[in-house]
Amino acid sequence: MSNPSEVELIHMFKGIPFTTRSSPELLKSLDSFDAREDDVLLVSYPKSGTHWLAGVITKLYNTQVTLTSPIEFGDVSRLEELNKLSSKRIIPTHLDYNMLPPNFKNKKCKMIYIIRNPKDTAVSMYHYYRDNPNLPTIDTWTAFFDLFLKGDVVCGSWFDHFLSWEEHANDKNILFLFYEDMKKDLSKTVKEMSLFLGLNVSDNDIQDICKKSSFSEMKSDTEKENSDPSHTVCALTSNRKLIFRKGAVGDWKNHFTPKQNRRFEEIFNEKMKLSKM
Ligand code: A3P
Repeated sequence: MSNPSEVELIHMFKGIPFTTRSSPELLKSLDSFDAREDDVLLVSYPKSGTHWLAGVITKLYNTQVTLTSPIEFGDVSRLEELNKLSSKRIIPTHLDYNMLPPNFKNKKCKMIYIIRNPKDTAVSMYHYYRDNPNLPTIDTWTAFFDLFLKGDVVCGSWFDHFLSWEEHANDKNILFLFYEDMKKDLSKTVKEMSLFLGLNVSDNDIQDICKKSSFSEMKSDTEKENSDPSHTVCALTSNRKLIFRKGAVGDWKNHFTPKQNRRFEEIFNEKMKLSKM
């Protein structure tokens, strides 16, 4: 972490890099955060399709729900604001399982974890870093690739994040979804989500939700919106083009050299050797 801008923009908490927009006081206070039994958490490593998931879930609930910004984002007063919300809360988070406020676990709140091929996640994150002044400057893809593999990026190592959650793959209150499955058959995933959330949604409504949640629809909607940073999944930028970039599976092939791919595979196989997914 030698880049001076990185020093200004990033701080470490429990060994994980956070942007300075997540204050240390807020991060410390998360342990005593008061969860509600009907809270729903949207969990992801950054750039895994969190906005997509949030778009679907808010359409699935046609009653009043509030999508908040990620729980780890802001200063400590944000937790008070969350406490004051009277409607059902849909709360995104990029926290590692071990850092999640214990109350969400004790109250068995429903949580949806979205996973994306880490190669595509790395590429998406690279573009996001490169064009976002709230994140450290990245000069080249090669430099970012190394940082990503070392876990020297916001939210830390993809592997550690995923493995911390995978340990809870059998918990009844956690649903695991794959970005690639959503791309292949969104309606199947939306049905799965509605069953998990205990919602009664007709096939017609599911088709409608899928149509409105396509990449092109969401991208054009978001460009029209005047997004309020306290109610958006990504509070680190108001530039929605950074979030709805390409929305494709396999973009890593346009970035990884064969050597980088071999190195990635080696590290992946080593770190994930005990993973069942
Ligand atoms: P790309 O940068 O590869 O395009 P997150 O919401 O977790 O920040 O993830 C952002 C990634 O999800 C971006 O990936 C974005 O394009 C993609 N995405 C957002 N909405 C999508 C949608 N409706 N369909 C497919 N991909 C979507």
